[in-house]
Amino acid sequence: MLLGAKHAGTVNGIELHGPTYRRFQRAMQPFHTPGRQLTHGDFFVLLPKLGRYHVILTNPPYIRHHSIPPRGRLRMQAALESASVAINGKASAWAYFVLSSTQLLVDGGRLAAVLPTELLTSDYGKGVMTHLRERFSRVRLVRCDRTVFPELSQRVLLCLADGLKKPNGKLAECLFDSLQSQASGQTGHFGVTDGMLLAERLDTLARLTAGSDLIVLERSIAAAPGVRRLGDVCKPSIGYVTGDNDFFHLTASDIEKETLNKKNLVPALARAKDVQGIVFDHANWRSLQDQERPCWLFRPPSTADKAVRRLIARGKRHGVADGAKCSSRKSWWRVPLGSVPPWFLVYMGPHVRIVRNAAKVQVSNSFYALRPLRDTSTNSLAVASLTSAFRISVMLESRELGGGLRKLEPSDAARLLVPACDIDVLDVRQVEHLVEAGDWQSARLAADDLLLRRRLHWPSDLIASLQRACLDQARAQ
Ligand SMILES: C[S@@+](CC[C@H](N)C(=O)[O-])C[C@H]1O[C@@H](n2cnc3c(N)ncnc32)[C@H](O)[C@@H]1O
Repeated sequence: MLLGAKHAGTVNGIELHGPTYRRFQRAMQPFHTPGRQLTHGDFFVLLPKLGRYHVILTNPPYIRHHSIPPRGRLRMQAALESASVAINGKASAWAYFVLSSTQLLVDGGRLAAVLPTELLTSDYGKGVMTHLRERFSRVRLVRCDRTVFPELSQRVLLCLADGLKKPNGKLAECLFDSLQSQASGQTGHFGVTDGMLLAERLDTLARLTAGSDLIVLERSIAAAPGVRRLGDVCKPSIGYVTGDNDFFHLTASDIEKETLNKKNLVPALARAKDVQGIVFDHANWRSLQDQERPCWLFRPPSTADKAVRRLIARGKRHGVADGAKCSSRKSWWRVPLGSVPPWFLVYMGPHVRIVRNAAKVQVSNSFYALRPLRDTSTNSLAVASLTSAFRISVMLESRELGGGLRKLEPSDAARLLVPACDIDVLDVRQVEHLVEAGDWQSARLAADDLLLRRRLHWPSDLIASLQRACLDQARAQ
């Protein structure tokens, strides 16, 4: 690091945490930065006394809004208010650091920050992004291909903004590339002038990094026969939230031990690992029960039964009633439930898919409930979710968490492209059997053949391109 090597006297550093501060001091020793310029303290307390800088480098903390101590948050909010900068109340700590740092730069100054990908994927991150594009002449984002902080479920971006200027109503263009593509000299250039378009493109990181071939394929899928957005067919919404899964989910022997009557319980699917294929039927649910899995939700209609009162009293003693979710309910033990969804979505992991809820169970927030918006004349949603077309749509809509794990938010799920039509029940079974046997690859090819080729008559070169893209993607992961 050459930072300050020539101008050690002009470098300032701030760190709050004692041991980290001492490490920082040691790291700066070779550059002979005067000790008084390396401050052990709170950036937001020191802020009013700081001068103006040409360059700011920051690797801010990623503390979520609900974990920021109230006094610290007040200080952070005050810092932005005095600079007349607004921020979404749900913002994590890093956003306050970035916005406050901008206020410390001279005209033409530069900012480099190590930020979570929430910069692009969260609502408050988009606000920060707009601020950066208003205040700087150029903004460049560099995606780190590998997991930089394995202990965080976050991927990171380097945000490099330069040429601080007075806002003039124009948003700076944004360049996006990754550490790998930087090494090979390729850069994705989104030189658009229309801020809305850019903001939309920056919507999913997966879309930015996918490459133009996949985006072209996505357009072909959207225009192909029978394709609809999942949100036009049904409404994806998060499954029930208990507030304390261990307390509310019971096994068959728990029920016997507690002498609970079945009217106080609802058959449920609590965990994503408890569902294997694309159909969840009574036999699957009974098998969970036989294996002593917690597949019953404690959900009494009233406290008339003694056994119910006993369990509620125990929950209260153990602090279940005081949890954030439970304490916000009128009756803390009454988990709110919607109607039983005919389908649900497994929204995380390598096999994102739609499952037909033949067992008619309630599903927890490990799934998104899918309830039809209007009379949906399709029996094939689950099979459609195995096709290469759906898989590519999932790749482009999902958000990347740490460790390569992908996840869809309900709004992402609503945008998924799904080829929908009615198909022969016997054909459906054939595909289901392949999934049950764990042969996802053959199941995908069979679903493509059944739905895309035979029923919807998609061109075979389009199907072949989709299959190739899925294979490439699987190899890349
Ligand atoms: C992501 S870590 C970066 C650590 C180190 N700068 C580095 O790059 O390896 C964020 C750092 O911000 C520090 N920090 C958190 N709140 C702070 C504040 N209000 N003022 C100054 N430093 C703070 C934390 O102690 C932590 O060391």
